[in-house]
Amino acid sequence: MPSSNHNPIILPQVSGPIGVFDSGYGGLTILRELRALMPQYDYLYLGDNARAPYGTRSFDIVYRYTLQAVTTLFERGCHLVILACNTASAKALRTIQQNDLPQLDPTRRVLGVIRPTAEVVGNITKSRHVGILATTGTILSRSYDLEIQKLYPDIAVTGQDCPMWVPLVENFEFDSPGADYFVELRINQLLKRDPDIDTIILACTHYPLLLPKIRHYSPADVTIISQGVYVAQSLNAYLANHADMAQRITKNGTLRCLTTENPNKFCATANRFLGHEVKAENIVLS
Ligand code: DGL
Repeated sequence: MPSSNHNPIILPQVSGPIGVFDSGYGGLTILRELRALMPQYDYLYLGDNARAPYGTRSFDIVYRYTLQAVTTLFERGCHLVILACNTASAKALRTIQQNDLPQLDPTRRVLGVIRPTAEVVGNITKSRHVGILATTGTILSRSYDLEIQKLYPDIAVTGQDCPMWVPLVENFEFDSPGADYFVELRINQLLKRDPDIDTIILACTHYPLLLPKIRHYSPADVTIISQGVYVAQSLNAYLANHADMAQRITKNGTLRCLTTENPNKFCATANRFLGHEVKAENIVLS
């Protein structure tokens, strides 16, 4: 795996917000649940909208972009960063945890969204056949297969990539008739490959925006798992067990957003996703 080329950097030691990172708008579906369960904390959201989608990019590129984002959030005072992106969690999390954190600051933490989602599936599926809908990168990484198999060896996992779904969301087309075609196509492909699937994980943080259509084209007895609520519960439990980390997070209930795209465009879209006004500023990642 590639390793960091970053020069040694001096990170601020004072407490700061929880960093939440995604390639674009999808991480807002995680952020919404984090703030619903833990409204006391401050949050700093970073969307790399200018370079989204990540789902079709190579391992090296996703790793490099994600490390840039994590380093930026650390520099802005975050001691804890959530990769609210399955693609980044699948392709970059382990390398960052093992290779980069020890150099950057071993006391900081970067957590992903795959493990907390894999943990809940064993209690939900009855047929023990689970489907994964995700970006091409997440499916090719086989991260969900491996995590679920480690925890529940009796579960059969079938992955289906949905290459057009993130662009539909990023371009605000998730409610359009065009979205119906692509949603129906991928659900049918998944269920054709394993008709015994009774549980589908939305393994991309953009996909909850397509939930009404996904629900519409899935059989009524199939459970659809939207991961935000489980990621929030898992982080809540983590912070309850790690008082040292909880103390390093500021608690004024604020949200600030950074985007690599136009902040006005980001705010307009984020307002609609979150249902309230947000402030955003532009940032260049390097
Ligand atoms: N939200 C990201 C995920 O969960 C989307 C990836 C992309 O940018 O393609 O995988």
